[in-house]
Amino acid sequence: MKHNKIIRNQPVLKDVFKDDFYIGVALNVNQIYDKEPNAIALVQRHFNSIVPENILKWEEVHPEPNKYNFDPVDRFVAFGEKHKMHIIGHTLVWFHQTPDWVFQDESGKPLDREALLKRMQEHIYTVMGRYKGRIHGWDVVNEAIADDGGFRKCKWLDIIGEDYVVKAYEYARAADPGAQLYYNEYDFEKQAKCEGVIRLIRDLQSKGVRIDGVGIQGHWFLDYPRIEEIETYILALSKLGVKLMVTELDVGVLPFYPVDSKAVALSSFDPETQKKYNPYTDGLPDSVQKDLAKRYAELFSLFHKHRDKFSRITFWAVHDGQSWRSYLPISGRTDYPMLFDRHCKPKPAFEAVIKIAQGEESLINSIDN
Ligand code: XIL
Repeated sequence: MKHNKIIRNQPVLKDVFKDDFYIGVALNVNQIYDKEPNAIALVQRHFNSIVPENILKWEEVHPEPNKYNFDPVDRFVAFGEKHKMHIIGHTLVWFHQTPDWVFQDESGKPLDREALLKRMQEHIYTVMGRYKGRIHGWDVVNEAIADDGGFRKCKWLDIIGEDYVVKAYEYARAADPGAQLYYNEYDFEKQAKCEGVIRLIRDLQSKGVRIDGVGIQGHWFLDYPRIEEIETYILALSKLGVKLMVTELDVGVLPFYPVDSKAVALSSFDPETQKKYNPYTDGLPDSVQKDLAKRYAELFSLFHKHRDKFSRITFWAVHDGQSWRSYLPISGRTDYPMLFDRHCKPKPAFEAVIKIAQGEESLINSIDN
């Protein structure tokens, strides 16, 4: 059966949550260039918000000092406009996926504070300015806080100092006064880190810098973090008086391995360790499929309960085959984190999320049986 026929009868995610929050999804470059028709059909049917997975990161959109790569972004924005979607930009200032030249002068020497601020401003003005009024919300600063609640060590901090974050929001506000400005972060279950984010946002607010939302990335596992932990920080963050959003949702089913900036190749482990970290190469066993459905049901039940606090829930891939969870922190694994499988077919997790929207909370326990 043709894919279009298969999806024609599916309940529509964005419709079942239309009174609650946007349902977003991250698009990769192939999808933006229309090379994955089945994935794009799902995007059009189920999602009313999009974010680019990589093409707006500094190394992609601004790879060299005077070179901007706007073609993919132009297409991404045009796609979102064509389908009347809520369009998100990710991300302007980050320690990662930012080329070394950004922090150096022509002779390779580190820039001083003023020169780096100028470069940050130029980047933000150029990128945001081009899509003024068209990209509706931006992850201005991504991942600025360390596990201990202090600022994460990075070149922005080293060269500019702690007010690099304030400056980024000031430039962004000036570049497009109508855009929503967000702060995006992960691992809020680490209490010191969560408190650090809250301190940072309060500090910005006390300086008169308006922040419109906090993004909770949501790269989770079947049993980590616990729902109670997530609820605790939803409640803590909501006291900031800003909208919350889940910005990069995926639920990995494979064993945890610490994330480093570079991926480790699965093939570099001995066979036994490979099996341990990559157990489901021949498909996902029914029992794990059920665990995933139950986990998604619990998560969406929590989001729905706090729908007054959330403006958007965004998935960090359309389908399992796209997800970064299979190539980071270990490359060469087969993970199953999304609602749609590698053939773009809905999984039991998809049905479970739809049922939650339809008020069938009792489903959560019945998945056990
Ligand atoms: C990931 C992308 O999904 C990968 O394709 C890329 O190789 C690395 O970055 N936090 C973020 C996202 O804010 O930008 C990251 O996306 C995942 C972690």
